[in-house]
Amino acid sequence: MKTKAAVLRELGKDWEIAELNLDPPRTGEVLVRWVAAGLCHSDEHLRSGDMGAPEDTRQAAGLPRLFPIIGGHEGGGVVVEVGPGVRSLQPGDHVAASFFPVCGRCKMCVTGHSNLCDLGAATFAFGQISDGTSRHHLNGEDINFIAKVGTFAEHSVVHEASLVKVDSDVPLGAACLVSCGVTTGWGSAVYRAEVRPGETVVVVGIGGVGINAVQGARMAGAHNLVAVDPIEFKQKAALDFGATHTAGSMEEALPLVTDLTGGQMADSVILTPSVMYGDLMAGALSLTGKGGTCVVTAVAPQTQTECSINLFELAMYQKEVRGVIFGAGNPRFDIPNLLGLYKSGQLKLDELITRRYALDQINEGYEDMINGVNIRGVITFD
Ligand SMILES: NC(=O)c1ccc[n+]([C@@H]2O[C@H](COP(=O)([O-])OP(=O)(O)OC[C@H]3O[C@@H](n4cnc5c(N)ncnc54)[C@H](O)[C@@H]3O)[C@@H](O)[C@H]2O)c1
Ligand SMILES: [Zn+2]
Ligand SMILES: [Zn+2]
Repeated sequence: MKTKAAVLRELGKDWEIAELNLDPPRTGEVLVRWVAAGLCHSDEHLRSGDMGAPEDTRQAAGLPRLFPIIGGHEGGGVVVEVGPGVRSLQPGDHVAASFFPVCGRCKMCVTGHSNLCDLGAATFAFGQISDGTSRHHLNGEDINFIAKVGTFAEHSVVHEASLVKVDSDVPLGAACLVSCGVTTGWGSAVYRAEVRPGETVVVVGIGGVGINAVQGARMAGAHNLVAVDPIEFKQKAALDFGATHTAGSMEEALPLVTDLTGGQMADSVILTPSVMYGDLMAGALSLTGKGGTCVVTAVAPQTQTECSINLFELAMYQKEVRGVIFGAGNPRFDIPNLLGLYKSGQLKLDELITRRYALDQINEGYEDMINGVNIRGVITFD
């Protein structure tokens, strides 16, 4: 069949809308019609080159080719057809994408850390997770799809390991948001910072991820909840989602947090800016109190290996630095669980969507994200 998708032909180029040929799903695979796809910053990292590398560098390193690639890893859609052996889904089911597949059998899966499933290694590999071959073709050429879901497409063929069934009464726009940004932010606060009632929490960077770290910290009972972002609109939005105070930068937050805590500083600092750079660590650890935790959620350029940390204070004040992927959540539990909190009115999802775009407005959507116009932009397909 034919379908339309937003494709990156090479690093640094704009998204291009292309007509693709799609093969039917093979064993374990599912044909999905995407209804909504979120514009997460992680796809922009792929375009800008923070993630991935130029094709010649990849070839020289013996890595499989990455481009051309269909973008999009936040998605809500409907199952159209299932391939042989698919047991968890049937046509008509509503699904959310999982930006890493979950095998259910590896060490990380069986110990409750399916966000670290060994199949995650396939994220930048070419083709399907089953056998590396491709179901997506552009002008007769096999093409890749990001995170093995490729939600910036009207349809894509996805392994059932990358799909989570959701209730059909949940809007697919809401389902698409929990497939990355919401769970990542919420879990960064609840699971990784382990926020407890009465604590002081600082969230740095209020985009689609950070705003949900604010929601998570509020639900976990944070007393002082400081949202840091240079953009005034983001600061106002954070107050609507439960922040108690705002600041334009970490430097500006320093006297505020000192004052709020009588100098004890924050129990946790969660870093969700657009791009993570090593020099942000010094400011973040100055805001982190004794015995406190600094959670690094934002994605840094893949080549970033240096950061500034006062190692004396790290040890003497017993501070902790923790990385996190997908908020340390388990997609098959956390996606339906967060949608349950949404249904009962405890988690805001509809309010996260600032603007909806048609697929062919994708470059405008990303420009709006970079200009700080959106909490989250979402592509909706007719
Ligand atoms: N770890 C994971 O599993 C995971 C999952 C999804 C996204 N991410 C990453 O999280 C980050 C945030 O994603 P997003 O989609 O919310 O991005 P976004 O672009 O929507 O929002 C980022 C926000 O950070 C603000 N910001 C930038 N620099 C800042 C600074 N120095 N101090 C304070 N605020 C600053 C921007 O103004 C913007 O409001 C990205 O790096 C993304 O790739 C990580
Ligand atoms: Zn994402
Ligand atoms: Zn696994």
